[in-house]
Amino acid sequence: MEAGFLLLKEHKTLPLSELKALLEIYLGGHKLEVLKNYGVVTSSLDRWALVEGIEKIVKRGAYIEEGHLIITKVEYQGSLKEGLELLIQRLKEMPSEELFSTLGMDPSRDSFAVRAVKLEEGDISSTTVERIVGGVLKEKTKAQVNLQEPSKVVKVILLQDRIYLGLLVRKRERKYFYNNRPHLRAYFHPGSILPKLARGMINLARLKEGDILLDPFCGVGGFLIEGGMIGCKLIGCDIEERMIRGTLLNLKSYKLEDRVLEIKRMDARDIVDYLRSKGIESVDAVVTDPPYGILTSVKGDVIDILKKLGDILKDGGYMVFAYPRRVDLDLELREIHKLYVHGSLTRHIHVYKK
Ligand SMILES: C[S@@+](CC[C@H](N)C(=O)[O-])C[C@H]1O[C@@H](n2cnc3c(N)ncnc32)[C@H](O)[C@@H]1O
Repeated sequence: MEAGFLLLKEHKTLPLSELKALLEIYLGGHKLEVLKNYGVVTSSLDRWALVEGIEKIVKRGAYIEEGHLIITKVEYQGSLKEGLELLIQRLKEMPSEELFSTLGMDPSRDSFAVRAVKLEEGDISSTTVERIVGGVLKEKTKAQVNLQEPSKVVKVILLQDRIYLGLLVRKRERKYFYNNRPHLRAYFHPGSILPKLARGMINLARLKEGDILLDPFCGVGGFLIEGGMIGCKLIGCDIEERMIRGTLLNLKSYKLEDRVLEIKRMDARDIVDYLRSKGIESVDAVVTDPPYGILTSVKGDVIDILKKLGDILKDGGYMVFAYPRRVDLDLELREIHKLYVHGSLTRHIHVYKK
């Protein structure tokens, strides 16, 4: 079966890398084809397992706008109009029972809406596609059309050489990222990372529920909150007492205190030895935003500290961090994503694997 993931277009590389990381966690063996900002995944999972995987990926994602279960696909040459004709013919030929079951639809209960997404130029508008496909589905299924609150949303993804028809499984938690911006939290500090980027970086680190996350420059807890939300055990330190108080307040306000293994005022240079003295020999991932000397002062040599953190990372574990320029560590550099912030700051998001 196939799944489709619509990626946000706001960054060239981050959304696709996040999708790849989450596919690794939740879908196991699969094949990925990328068409514009649409990732099409072929998996040997059955329908229910695939839908569950899509749910989890989009729920956790920061840059994945929608997840679809693909019902059918037509490939075409020529104009988009011709492609649409092929799709209509395919739908008309499909037995109604098969359409109900692939759409997971009970026509006596369900209502539906068709939404088209045009990823490339074509000689027909999205609204026309919606109207035509909606008409055919209505005739076949006898289900009610409801454009405001449909119980099923059918997606039509239009590309220059193919059209996918799929069922919308889940949309991104856009409100979560908006409603949880740092200034709305129990304790605010202007250097705090935005939740969307924090979640994206946590995802690039391939953290799973129950894994140990270490942020050695935790500030007021931007990464620890996102790690806590996905069920990680949390270790954080910061050299400033007020930041540690802020982190604890923030974690408490999200009811994440029980995820904490250690939150401590400490110089990051000492964290590896400290954790070992406590019997913690390794962590699953380090995700952090070290000080660059812009909003927060730098105490100690950050690069030396990052190098030392590699010692406590488990084999196969990821270290994901932002820095204003490329930093070379003795680990495998998998990716660097450049994020323009302003004239004098482009964040380089490093993804290292041990
Ligand atoms: C960019 S901020 C981190 C912000 C954090 N990600 C958040 O969401 O709030 C960097 C933090 O590093 C801390 N810091 C600076 N030098 C340090 C050191 N040597 N050891 C530990 N923390 C340090 C600063 O106090 C600051 O809170």
